[in-house]
Amino acid sequence: MSSQIRSGDANFIIENNARHVWHPMIDPKMSAENLPVVISGSDGVYISDIEGKVYLDCTASLWNVNVGHNRPEIKAAIVDQLDKLAYYNTFGNASNPPSIALSALLMEMMEPEGMARVLFSSGGSDAVEGALKLSRQYWKLVGKSEKTKFFSLKNAYHGVHYGGLSVGGGIPWRRAYEPVLPGCFQIDSPYLYRNGWTEDPEELGEICATKLAREIEHQGPDTVAAFIAEPVQGAGGMIVPPANFWPRVREVCDQYEILLIADEVVTGFGRTGSMFGSRHWSVKPDVMCLAKGINSGYVPLGATVVNQRIAEAWEKDDPMAPIMHGYTYSGHPLACAAALANLEIVIEEDLPANAGTVGGYFLERLNELTQYPRVGDVRGVGLMLAVEFVSDRETKEPIPAFDPYFIAIQEICRKEGVWVRIQANKMIFSPPLVFEKKHVDKALDAVHTALNKLSEL
Ligand SMILES: Cc1ncc(COP(=O)(O)O)c(C=O)c1O
Repeated sequence: MSSQIRSGDANFIIENNARHVWHPMIDPKMSAENLPVVISGSDGVYISDIEGKVYLDCTASLWNVNVGHNRPEIKAAIVDQLDKLAYYNTFGNASNPPSIALSALLMEMMEPEGMARVLFSSGGSDAVEGALKLSRQYWKLVGKSEKTKFFSLKNAYHGVHYGGLSVGGGIPWRRAYEPVLPGCFQIDSPYLYRNGWTEDPEELGEICATKLAREIEHQGPDTVAAFIAEPVQGAGGMIVPPANFWPRVREVCDQYEILLIADEVVTGFGRTGSMFGSRHWSVKPDVMCLAKGINSGYVPLGATVVNQRIAEAWEKDDPMAPIMHGYTYSGHPLACAAALANLEIVIEEDLPANAGTVGGYFLERLNELTQYPRVGDVRGVGLMLAVEFVSDRETKEPIPAFDPYFIAIQEICRKEGVWVRIQANKMIFSPPLVFEKKHVDKALDAVHTALNKLSEL
């Protein structure tokens, strides 16, 4: 069997996939019925499957291959590092040069946020777990050990570890694994398209921030450790908050002495059009979670970063000060070497600016889709965009997740050579940040073809 796989026998590989592999985020029976597309090649903004079909990658895999696929600079950095030191851990007093160099570069890049220390990990869920644990440890170190609760937003996605799942607001991710951690509370997210109060963004931002303040008061501020949120909610629906929301949240956190954690796993390193999502809203968090765009997915890597004020709590002698958290692969040399090369590209090519310009054009073009009766809303910022589908525009009734309509859209787009992602009732666009306007046009041609074909049915 393994020789057939190694020989690249496409049919054999596709048919055998679901026999042994359980895929994340799908019922195994569904992946057995709908055989997966096996992606076996990539270059720039394109990916190709094992049968040789090429697709425009409108999702940058999972919003992470920000500099594009197959970048020679990153491959060279990994190979160069591989020749020196493939791997050694960073526990205790061991270290390696790429993780040290990366920590210095990150602190330089995050100087405007006043960030001071980084704890490396292997991905986004890890980065969130680190942020939650360090927040509780911080309050113990400063003598306020009652502060343990977490606040977050409905529709939030903070990864799949028990900490992230407990502060995550999405029912589909939690239900099968409940009970989650006690002491986690979600307030309404500022979702302009679906909220029971107002169509005015500023008013909505104020309402949601006030709800946060009220709930904190209700729980008792002396029991709350942190508020965690994504600068733009991604997996939970691509919800762009009103401009006043994050600044108001910062005020609330300051008022009640609560740490503000920005989960920048998706928004970090340019996706919103700013280098960091919180910078986009002119807000300085206390803790930031990073992954994905940190090295565009060439090797798994995550990082939790804290500001100077938080870091100082670890300076005193205290039996509670050791950081009893970390992973075998924290600060993996290959991942950090890839990150150094990746971030050089992000800075040199000013990819945040490109995300802003091309993202603006993308949103303009997506607005054309409101001509189709099942398109309820189109929204986004930078290269984080979504089209929300409804069965009735008046009632805004969502088309159910996994509806054959979505499978058909995806299939037609793929036939047209465009790779899109459908999540629940939304079509998500999160392409590499090197996307150009011509790529946006190709994507829109395919989506128009799909929606036109399906509106004839
Ligand atoms: C905001 C956010 N946080 C955390 C995660 C989890 O990251 P990972 O899948 O690398 O564990 C994700 C993944 O998409 C995310 O979007």
